[in-house]
Amino acid sequence: MTFLLIYYKIQIKKGFPMLIDKNSLPLVDMDNMNDVHFEDVDIINNLSSLLDKYENTPSEDLYQEINKQYEKWFEHTINHFASEEEMMLEKNFFAYPMHKGEHTNALQVMQGVYEYWKNKKDIQALKKYVQQDCIDWLLHHIQTMDTVTAKFLKTGMSPCHSF
Ligand SMILES: [Fe+2]
Ligand SMILES: [Fe+2]
Repeated sequence: MTFLLIYYKIQIKKGFPMLIDKNSLPLVDMDNMNDVHFEDVDIINNLSSLLDKYENTPSEDLYQEINKQYEKWFEHTINHFASEEEMMLEKNFFAYPMHKGEHTNALQVMQGVYEYWKNKKDIQALKKYVQQDCIDWLLHHIQTMDTVTAKFLKTGMSPCHSF
């Protein structure tokens, strides 16, 4: 586990209002990819604070707000992944199938978690996914797949030490 990951987990445990600090997000070599990651973090932070509110005082209004935010996040993630896949295809990136595979799995999990939430209204399960599992996934994905991909897109080279 990287130092960064430990840092984020400590933040979560301390209950900081902001789940992820944008200034500490790992950066890749493509600015347009970083911009999309920053937008993603904003959506996740907003969703996370809605979940905390719902846990303390559940209401129908909050439930609807959570669903709206989750759907916005899902839509944003579809576009986020599609734009990376388009750039990879354009440049014939050698690890396209691997990178796309991680995207596809992540979208399936995201969809499954949402369906479970709407059926069961299990706030603890949703919080665990949004505030822990997806953060772990996102940071790991940015530090591996996205980092290598961005390096390739920018320079046409692959950092051998990353794979
Ligand atoms: Fe990404
Ligand atoms: Fe990616």
